[in-house]
Amino acid sequence: MENKIYLKGEITIPPDKSISHRSLILAFLLNSKIKIKNLSLCEDCISTLKILEKLGLKYEFLSKNELILDSSNTLKSNSSNIENIELDCGNSGTTTRLLSGFFARSNYKVTLIGDESLSKRPMKRIIEPLEQMGAKITSNNNKLPMTIEGTKLKNIEYFSPIASAQVKSCLILAGLGIENVTTVYEPILSRNHTELMLKYLGADIVCSKDKKGYYTKIKKSNLNPKDIEIVGDISSAAFFMAASAIIPNSSIKIKNVGINPTRTGILNVFDTAQIDYELSNQKTLSNELCADITVNYTKNIKPFKISGDLIPRLIDEIPILALLATQAQGICEVSNAQDLRNKESDRIKTIVRSFSTLGVDIKEKEDGFIIKGKVDFNKSATLETFLDHRLAMTYYILSLINKQKLTIKGLDCINTSFPEFFNLIKQLKYEN
Ligand code: S3P
Repeated sequence: MENKIYLKGEITIPPDKSISHRSLILAFLLNSKIKIKNLSLCEDCISTLKILEKLGLKYEFLSKNELILDSSNTLKSNSSNIENIELDCGNSGTTTRLLSGFFARSNYKVTLIGDESLSKRPMKRIIEPLEQMGAKITSNNNKLPMTIEGTKLKNIEYFSPIASAQVKSCLILAGLGIENVTTVYEPILSRNHTELMLKYLGADIVCSKDKKGYYTKIKKSNLNPKDIEIVGDISSAAFFMAASAIIPNSSIKIKNVGINPTRTGILNVFDTAQIDYELSNQKTLSNELCADITVNYTKNIKPFKISGDLIPRLIDEIPILALLATQAQGICEVSNAQDLRNKESDRIKTIVRSFSTLGVDIKEKEDGFIIKGKVDFNKSATLETFLDHRLAMTYYILSLINKQKLTIKGLDCINTSFPEFFNLIKQLKYEN
């Protein structure tokens, strides 16, 4: 079966998932009415929305991704009737970890539950610092289900051993309710959407760097209600960017992609790999930079290495960048990415296994992998997604360059982050 598919055209990428979670949580904390334009309606964000709705947030859709949120009468202002509410976080680590920071200092007692994949993921990274702040948490061996009984917290200075935006944001959302300054240090700067949105809403927050690392200082603040417009998700765009780079004859323009520098590690990789791309039409929406990105098929993709400071800036793109690596002329290596083992699946193991099944020369490392390109995919196989949406989309793009039939089990999980994925593929896909 010879592969004759290519991608051409222009698409607008759906809203950023990370920023959407934050906009919902902060809208909930505003005690007011605001409009959110371009909210992601992926399953993960719906998990956050449904939880907040259960706590009294009212919302009304004005159009598909635009809604009015009203938090002026939520349960938090009437705590007497709040007794252990079970809240389902679905597949979403961001929902779980960010909301935990707020719950720890709230009037609520909640039990957070999640699906099979989320229930395996580590929560110690937030339980430990929150307990240092005085939080009352019980968990299933540092995993979900996790019960949090809100209490008065004390401020701390915390040095996070990992660069995790979820840990940082959890502690920022806890610190936002405490009079004195809470400081969170991280070794490498992770995505800073919480900080940017809080600044946009007028919070008392300072972000900088000293010799101990990157820090955020936050204290109790009055937020100013303001409408929020959300940029497109570079982590979703990444699948189309890579696809266009590796599928002969392709050329696509992706509009409205968030290019916050804490998220654009993929562009640094594209620079090293000498992928033919360009940015245009840059602007800022609600404190976040965005641009249109055009990517053209690139015949000679140069090998690249991903490690160190780059890792948090492209952590969710590693599965699709692994596919890009298979098309490079030489050896590519990913290092310092051990946290990939704690994502929706153990992404180091699942990528190594599936790529090996397809005949790729890939070597597993504790903190990454080494891939030898250039691979001519020409094998029939069945691949498992393990409820991991980013693996599912990577396999699908791989199927477009594989000359034999690829069966992918569990593609439904793509709805976790990117329900529009197949529609956009349909819009761009042509046959020679
Ligand atoms: C996210 C942060 C990242 C990322 C996840 C979303 C966020 O996780 O992998 O998909 O919205 O804060 P870590 O911060 O745990 O690395």
